[in-house]
Amino acid sequence: MKIVQLSDVHFGAQFRNEIFEQVINEVNELSPYAVIITGDLTNEGLKEEYEGCKELISKLNVKKIIAMPGNHDYRNTGYLHFKKYFPFQAINELSDDVVLITIGTARPDRDEGEVGHRQTLWLERTMKKYQNRTKILAMHHHLIGIPDTGSDRLTIIDAGDVLRATLDSDVDLVLCGHKHRPWLWDFNKLLIANAGSVSSERVRGFFENSYNIIKIQNGKISIDLKIVGGERIPLQNVVKNYTNFEDE
Ligand SMILES: [Fe+2]
Ligand SMILES: [Fe+2]
Repeated sequence: MKIVQLSDVHFGAQFRNEIFEQVINEVNELSPYAVIITGDLTNEGLKEEYEGCKELISKLNVKKIIAMPGNHDYRNTGYLHFKKYFPFQAINELSDDVVLITIGTARPDRDEGEVGHRQTLWLERTMKKYQNRTKILAMHHHLIGIPDTGSDRLTIIDAGDVLRATLDSDVDLVLCGHKHRPWLWDFNKLLIANAGSVSSERVRGFFENSYNIIKIQNGKISIDLKIVGGERIPLQNVVKNYTNFEDE
Protein backbone atom coordinates (compact mmCIF):
# COMPACT_ATOMS: atom_id res chain seq x y z
CA MET A 1 0.00 0.00 0.00
CA LYS A 2 1.24 3.43 -0.94
CA ILE A 3 0.23 6.55 1.00
CA VAL A 4 1.34 10.11 0.33
CA GLN A 5 1.66 12.57 3.21
CA LEU A 6 1.32 16.20 2.20
CA SER A 7 1.55 18.89 4.86
CA ASP A 8 1.48 22.62 5.41
CA VAL A 9 0.08 23.69 2.06
CA HIS A 10 -0.55 27.23 3.42
CA PHE A 11 -2.81 28.37 0.61
CA GLY A 12 -2.77 32.17 0.90
CA ALA A 13 0.28 34.32 1.62
CA GLN A 14 3.65 32.72 0.81
CA PHE A 15 1.93 29.95 -1.15
CA ARG A 16 3.85 28.65 -4.16
CA ASN A 17 1.20 27.92 -6.76
CA GLU A 18 3.50 26.50 -9.44
CA ILE A 19 5.07 24.17 -6.89
CA PHE A 20 1.66 22.86 -5.87
CA GLU A 21 0.69 22.29 -9.51
CA GLN A 22 3.83 20.18 -9.79
CA VAL A 23 2.82 18.27 -6.64
CA ILE A 24 -0.56 17.47 -8.17
CA ASN A 25 1.14 16.03 -11.27
CA GLU A 26 3.64 14.03 -9.24
CA VAL A 27 1.06 12.59 -6.86
CA ASN A 28 -1.29 11.68 -9.70
CA GLU A 29 1.64 9.91 -11.35
CA LEU A 30 2.45 8.05 -8.12
CA SER A 31 -1.20 7.01 -7.86
CA PRO A 32 -1.25 6.29 -4.11
CA TYR A 33 -4.15 4.58 -2.41
CA ALA A 34 -4.59 7.53 -0.04
CA VAL A 35 -3.32 11.05 0.53
CA ILE A 36 -3.17 12.33 4.08
CA ILE A 37 -2.79 16.09 4.51
CA THR A 38 -1.50 16.82 8.01
CA GLY A 39 -2.84 20.32 8.44
CA ASP A 40 -2.27 23.99 7.65
CA LEU A 41 -4.06 23.75 4.32
CA THR A 42 -4.73 27.48 4.52
CA ASN A 43 -2.60 30.33 5.83
CA GLU A 44 -5.22 32.28 7.76
CA GLY A 45 -8.29 30.02 7.86
CA LEU A 46 -10.20 32.36 5.55
CA LYS A 47 -13.16 31.25 3.42
CA GLU A 48 -11.48 32.38 0.17
CA GLU A 49 -8.40 30.39 1.09
CA TYR A 50 -10.49 27.28 1.79
CA GLU A 51 -12.21 27.70 -1.57
CA GLY A 52 -8.95 28.10 -3.47
CA CYS A 53 -7.32 25.21 -1.65
CA LYS A 54 -10.32 22.93 -2.17
CA GLU A 55 -10.22 23.61 -5.90
CA LEU A 56 -6.56 22.60 -6.11
CA ILE A 57 -6.91 19.53 -3.89
CA SER A 58 -9.79 18.31 -6.03
CA LYS A 59 -7.29 17.94 -8.90
CA LEU A 60 -5.71 15.06 -7.02
CA ASN A 61 -6.84 11.89 -8.66
CA VAL A 62 -6.86 9.84 -5.49
CA LYS A 63 -9.58 7.61 -4.09
CA LYS A 64 -9.09 8.64 -0.50
CA ILE A 65 -8.01 12.08 0.71
CA ILE A 66 -7.86 12.61 4.45
CA ALA A 67 -7.24 16.26 5.30
CA MET A 68 -6.96 17.39 8.91
CA PRO A 69 -6.77 20.92 10.30
CA GLY A 70 -3.68 22.71 11.61
CA ASN A 71 -3.34 25.79 13.79
CA HIS A 72 -3.42 28.12 10.75
CA ASP A 73 -6.70 26.57 9.58
CA TYR A 74 -8.20 27.42 12.97
CA ARG A 75 -7.40 31.12 12.70
CA ASN A 76 -10.25 33.57 12.24
CA THR A 77 -12.77 30.85 13.23
CA GLY A 78 -11.57 28.87 10.21
CA TYR A 79 -12.56 25.67 12.06
CA LEU A 80 -16.15 26.48 11.07
CA HIS A 81 -15.13 26.33 7.39
CA PHE A 82 -12.85 23.33 7.66
CA LYS A 83 -15.51 20.71 8.24
CA LYS A 84 -17.50 22.08 5.33
CA TYR A 85 -14.67 22.09 2.82
CA PHE A 86 -12.70 19.09 4.05
CA PRO A 87 -14.94 16.70 5.97
CA PHE A 88 -12.95 13.75 7.29
CA GLN A 89 -13.28 10.71 9.51
CA ALA A 90 -11.00 10.16 12.48
CA ILE A 91 -10.89 6.38 11.89
CA ASN A 92 -9.83 5.21 8.44
CA GLU A 93 -9.58 1.49 7.77
CA LEU A 94 -7.37 1.68 4.70
CA SER A 95 -7.27 -2.09 4.26
CA ASP A 96 -7.67 -5.30 6.25
CA ASP A 97 -4.10 -4.72 7.42
CA VAL A 98 -3.76 -0.97 7.81
CA VAL A 99 -5.65 1.58 9.90
CA LEU A 100 -5.01 5.33 10.01
CA ILE A 101 -6.35 7.33 12.92
CA THR A 102 -6.24 11.10 13.24
CA ILE A 103 -6.29 13.20 16.38
CA GLY A 104 -6.99 16.93 16.54
CA THR A 105 -4.21 19.04 18.01
CA ALA A 106 -5.23 22.52 16.79
CA ARG A 107 -7.18 24.88 19.04
CA PRO A 108 -8.85 28.18 18.11
CA ASP A 109 -6.54 31.19 18.17
CA ARG A 110 -3.60 29.25 19.52
CA ASP A 111 -0.47 28.12 17.79
CA GLU A 112 0.60 25.40 20.20
CA GLY A 113 -1.00 21.98 20.04
CA GLU A 114 -3.05 20.11 22.61
CA VAL A 115 -4.67 16.68 22.56
CA GLY A 116 -6.48 16.58 25.89
CA HIS A 117 -7.23 13.78 28.34
CA ARG A 118 -10.47 12.61 26.72
CA GLN A 119 -9.05 12.39 23.24
CA THR A 120 -6.03 10.50 24.56
CA LEU A 121 -8.36 7.97 26.25
CA TRP A 122 -10.33 7.68 23.01
CA LEU A 123 -7.11 7.09 21.10
CA GLU A 124 -6.09 4.21 23.37
CA ARG A 125 -9.53 2.62 23.25
CA THR A 126 -9.71 2.93 19.48
CA MET A 127 -6.22 1.58 18.81
CA LYS A 128 -7.01 -1.48 20.97
CA LYS A 129 -9.63 -2.51 18.42
CA TYR A 130 -6.96 -2.75 15.74
CA GLN A 131 -4.29 -4.76 17.51
CA ASN A 132 -3.40 -6.92 14.53
CA ARG A 133 -3.11 -4.13 12.00
CA THR A 134 -0.37 -1.72 11.05
CA LYS A 135 -1.43 1.35 13.03
CA ILE A 136 -0.79 4.86 11.77
CA LEU A 137 -1.57 7.93 13.87
CA ALA A 138 -1.72 11.33 12.16
CA MET A 139 -1.69 14.75 13.82
CA HIS A 140 -0.77 18.28 12.79
CA HIS A 141 1.62 19.32 15.56
CA HIS A 142 4.88 17.48 16.16
CA LEU A 143 4.79 14.94 18.95
CA ILE A 144 8.48 15.30 19.75
CA GLY A 145 10.76 18.27 19.20
CA ILE A 146 12.93 18.25 16.10
CA PRO A 147 16.29 19.91 15.45
CA ASP A 148 16.69 23.54 14.40
CA THR A 149 13.43 24.67 15.89
CA GLY A 150 14.97 26.85 18.56
CA SER A 151 13.24 27.26 21.90
CA ASP A 152 10.19 25.42 20.66
CA ARG A 153 7.07 26.18 22.66
CA LEU A 154 4.66 25.03 19.98
CA THR A 155 4.86 21.30 20.51
CA ILE A 156 1.83 19.44 21.85
CA ILE A 157 1.56 20.65 25.44
CA ASP A 158 0.48 17.24 26.73
CA ALA A 159 2.93 15.37 24.48
CA GLY A 160 4.04 13.10 27.34
CA ASP A 161 0.53 11.68 27.78
CA VAL A 162 0.05 11.23 24.06
CA LEU A 163 3.45 9.57 23.61
CA ARG A 164 2.72 7.14 26.44
CA ALA A 165 -0.68 6.27 24.93
CA THR A 166 0.95 5.88 21.51
CA LEU A 167 3.56 3.44 22.83
CA ASP A 168 1.06 1.51 24.98
CA SER A 169 -1.19 1.13 21.92
CA ASP A 170 1.65 -0.26 19.78
CA VAL A 171 1.24 2.43 17.17
CA ASP A 172 3.70 1.74 14.34
CA LEU A 173 3.94 5.13 12.69
CA VAL A 174 3.08 8.71 13.70
CA LEU A 175 2.74 11.33 10.96
CA CYS A 176 3.20 14.99 11.90
CA GLY A 177 3.51 18.32 10.14
CA HIS A 178 3.64 21.87 11.49
CA LYS A 179 7.39 22.57 11.68
CA HIS A 180 7.94 22.68 7.90
CA ARG A 181 11.01 20.54 8.49
CA PRO A 182 11.24 16.94 7.26
CA TRP A 183 12.60 14.61 9.92
CA LEU A 184 12.38 11.00 11.08
CA TRP A 185 12.63 9.69 14.61
CA ASP A 186 13.22 5.96 14.38
CA PHE A 187 12.70 4.32 17.77
CA ASN A 188 12.65 0.80 16.25
CA LYS A 189 9.24 -0.02 17.65
CA LEU A 190 7.84 3.38 16.69
CA LEU A 191 8.55 5.66 13.74
CA ILE A 192 7.68 9.37 13.91
CA ALA A 193 7.78 11.02 10.49
CA ASN A 194 7.59 14.78 10.16
CA ALA A 195 6.75 16.17 6.73
CA GLY A 196 8.19 19.38 5.35
CA SER A 197 5.99 22.06 3.85
CA VAL A 198 4.73 20.99 0.44
CA SER A 199 4.12 24.46 -0.97
CA SER A 200 4.89 27.28 1.46
CA GLU A 201 7.85 29.64 1.10
CA ARG A 202 8.46 29.13 4.80
CA VAL A 203 10.75 26.11 4.79
CA ARG A 204 13.25 25.57 7.58
CA GLY A 205 16.41 23.51 8.01
CA PHE A 206 15.78 21.72 4.71
CA PHE A 207 15.32 24.33 2.05
CA GLU A 208 13.07 22.62 -0.47
CA ASN A 209 9.35 21.95 -0.63
CA SER A 210 8.81 18.27 -0.06
CA TYR A 211 6.39 15.53 0.95
CA ASN A 212 6.56 11.96 2.19
CA ILE A 213 5.79 8.72 0.38
CA ILE A 214 4.95 5.84 2.71
CA LYS A 215 4.96 2.22 1.63
CA ILE A 216 3.56 -0.59 3.74
CA GLN A 217 4.20 -4.14 2.69
CA ASN A 218 3.59 -7.15 4.90
CA GLY A 219 3.59 -4.93 7.96
CA LYS A 220 6.92 -3.35 7.02
CA ILE A 221 6.97 0.44 6.67
CA SER A 222 9.34 2.45 4.49
CA ILE A 223 9.24 6.22 4.09
CA ASP A 224 10.77 8.31 1.34
CA LEU A 225 11.09 12.05 1.11
CA LYS A 226 10.21 13.50 -2.27
CA ILE A 227 11.55 16.92 -3.14
CA VAL A 228 8.96 18.66 -5.32
CA GLY A 229 10.43 18.57 -8.83
CA GLY A 230 13.52 16.84 -7.47
CA GLU A 231 14.90 13.61 -6.12
CA ARG A 232 13.30 10.92 -3.99
CA ILE A 233 15.43 9.74 -1.08
CA PRO A 234 14.85 7.69 2.07
CA LEU A 235 13.57 10.10 4.73
CA GLN A 236 16.22 8.63 7.04
CA ASN A 237 18.90 10.30 4.85
CA VAL A 238 17.85 13.71 6.13
CA VAL A 239 18.83 12.50 9.60
CA LYS A 240 21.96 10.61 8.49
CA ASN A 241 23.27 13.51 6.43
CA TYR A 242 22.41 16.13 9.00
CA THR A 243 25.89 17.65 9.09
CA ASN A 244 26.05 17.66 5.28
CA PHE A 245 22.86 19.65 5.11
CA GLU A 246 24.26 21.99 7.71
CA ASP A 247 27.35 22.65 5.58
CA GLU A 248 25.40 23.48 2.46
FE1 LIG B 1 2.42 25.23 8.89
FE1 LIG C 1 1.09 24.58 11.98
